[in-house]
Amino acid sequence: MSTRQETIDLILDHYDNPRNYGPMQDADVVATGRNPGCGDLVTVYLKVGPGEQTTAVSFEGKGCTISQAAASITTDLVVGKTLGELLEIDHQVVADDLGNDVVGSRLRCATLALNTLRSAVARYQAGDPPQTAAEAPVENF
Ligand code: FES
Repeated sequence: MSTRQETIDLILDHYDNPRNYGPMQDADVVATGRNPGCGDLVTVYLKVGPGEQTTAVSFEGKGCTISQAAASITTDLVVGKTLGELLEIDHQVVADDLGNDVVGSRLRCATLALNTLRSAVARYQAGDPPQTAAEAPVENF
């Protein structure tokens, strides 16, 4: 169980030093999600290998500390998992890192990246997925 200060430090570390940050030139699927209440954005890039196993992930975004830290934390969970396993990542996994009080009061911020990741999986599995950020429609979550 993390203390409140440890949780704040973790969030700030992910915000200041985001993991997996930047565009991916050769992505197999790209999805962009927006919180319509504030306009904040997260774009998720995935590379998918044999057996629908994720081989690379990155994200870009613009928004509040919670949404961008959560995107860093969420994308850290991705590589090596199959697309089916990505769909099983529960909001609680992110909540465990961010703290339930943060997630409870900022649910849309905390889950923007996870919902965008799920959209990327769905678009890949539906066939003919967007492969650049310019092609990816912006979805509201
Ligand atoms: Fe916009 Fe957090 S305030 S996603």
